[in-house]
Amino acid sequence: MLTAVSEDVFNCQLDAGRKAVTPCTVVIFGASGDLTARKLIPALYHLFAEGMLPAPFQVIGVARRHKTHETWRAELRAALERFSRSGTPPADKWQAFAEGVFYCEGDFNDSATYQRLREMLKAAPAEDLRRHLLFYLAVAPSQFGEISQQLHDAGLLQRLGEQTGWQRLVVEKPFGHDLQSARALNQHLLRLVDEQQIFRIDHYLGKETVQNILMFRFSNSIFEQLWNRQLVDHVQITVSEQHGVGDRGGFYEEAGALRDIGQNHLLQVLALVAMEPPVTLESEAVRNEKVKLLKSIRPITPAQAATQAVRGQYFAGTIDGQPVPGYRQEPRVRPDSNVETYMALKLQIDNWRWSGVPFYVRSGKRLPLSASEVRVQFRPAPNVLFAAQCGLQLDVNAITLRLQPHEGISLRFNGKVPGSSLRVRPVRMHFSYNTEFGAYTPEAYERLLLEALAGDATLFIRSDEVEAAWSLVDPIREAWSAPLSNREFYAAGTWGPVAADELMARDGREWRNPQPAA
Ligand code: BG6
Repeated sequence: MLTAVSEDVFNCQLDAGRKAVTPCTVVIFGASGDLTARKLIPALYHLFAEGMLPAPFQVIGVARRHKTHETWRAELRAALERFSRSGTPPADKWQAFAEGVFYCEGDFNDSATYQRLREMLKAAPAEDLRRHLLFYLAVAPSQFGEISQQLHDAGLLQRLGEQTGWQRLVVEKPFGHDLQSARALNQHLLRLVDEQQIFRIDHYLGKETVQNILMFRFSNSIFEQLWNRQLVDHVQITVSEQHGVGDRGGFYEEAGALRDIGQNHLLQVLALVAMEPPVTLESEAVRNEKVKLLKSIRPITPAQAATQAVRGQYFAGTIDGQPVPGYRQEPRVRPDSNVETYMALKLQIDNWRWSGVPFYVRSGKRLPLSASEVRVQFRPAPNVLFAAQCGLQLDVNAITLRLQPHEGISLRFNGKVPGSSLRVRPVRMHFSYNTEFGAYTPEAYERLLLEALAGDATLFIRSDEVEAAWSLVDPIREAWSAPLSNREFYAAGTWGPVAADELMARDGREWRNPQPAA
């Protein structure tokens, strides 16, 4: 007799033994900034509301503007209503959270600010709040060095062996603007604290779908068999955004698509898709494999950039039927700016698994839709039977990991169209997060904050990883120092400059663009 096996039997909890988050204080530098209002406070509030934060727990925001605790709390509440995934918080929940939220006014360059912060910490009602400290640098990168130094000088941030309790530093991206500056920043931070205390953020690693890449690959036996140069023809990774630079023109003028998305989000996703299985799920083991993979990507030299790296900038166009301005017309953008808002690269991985399999990665602003996905495209069927008769009309197999939105995974293969004629066309098997698990997906920052509070660095970037990524980006930047040519512009609302299609066409391939609903 067959007995049904409950799904629960196969529900495996991997983090049951993970370290509990101890009561602590989160100190946010950049308390008046956008990131704090849009992401950090909503994330902390949700963690609190769901009972995921330890008690006691407090947040201290540091910024220059004059404000009282009350005014900052009121601002944060208004921001939560606007930006949070759950809308207006229930009054009692918010009140309970806000009681642990404080404001510390001061200039980041002034040592008096850190003395004030010290006093506030000293006055905390519990020993743990004074000794367990997470410093979050949600500030301009130029301030990372100064703040960490001042914290150290004030005795608030010490090395592992010198501290009582724990002290950690969360550093937002961009971490440096090239290899040299990233190295200098690493050296500076590592003079003050140990690597295990530094949590370099790439918020893509906090996304459910990005974390699922390793689960998908290494908790299933069938897909990993396909994941190699014998069967994979090439891989496409796309991070496309419909919106433009909005009010971030000033920042973007210093960054561009390659630094803003390529150096971090795209290379991180690529590393997870292509890396070898780690020996364990420990943070160092996972990160060792990612670094190994990044180091096996063949750098694109400035001379090769002409055929393997494409940049572009959007001019005025139409999105969803609405006219939108060009990049050069955006606020705080130079009218003759040569900053790229689009990038596409052909990358080769020189290792046993992937030798000869190109990875095409691209990202752009003002593209037709916002979607991030990984498409693993398999080799065509042998040129006999159906393939011989249909030629290029016979589609190839592909697995698409849709990272956002409409999160899910699809397998595309050919099937017979029902009927008396013999017709074949692609069909799709699809797993949708929403259908399977319901619409709830926690924000990346919730997960990342919780991990940093627990002291687990798996989802953060290690110093050698960030440097390996910059080594790949720097030579391309060098090749892009000349002004943009006419061919490098694309109309807002299109899939990038023609050169991006040519990059693929040279290899006899084409981009497969994300679809509105996967
Ligand atoms: C940020 C970039 O890191 O990622 C932004 O600075 C970009 O320019 C954003 O828009 C994209 O993140 P998400 O989560 O919206 O895909």
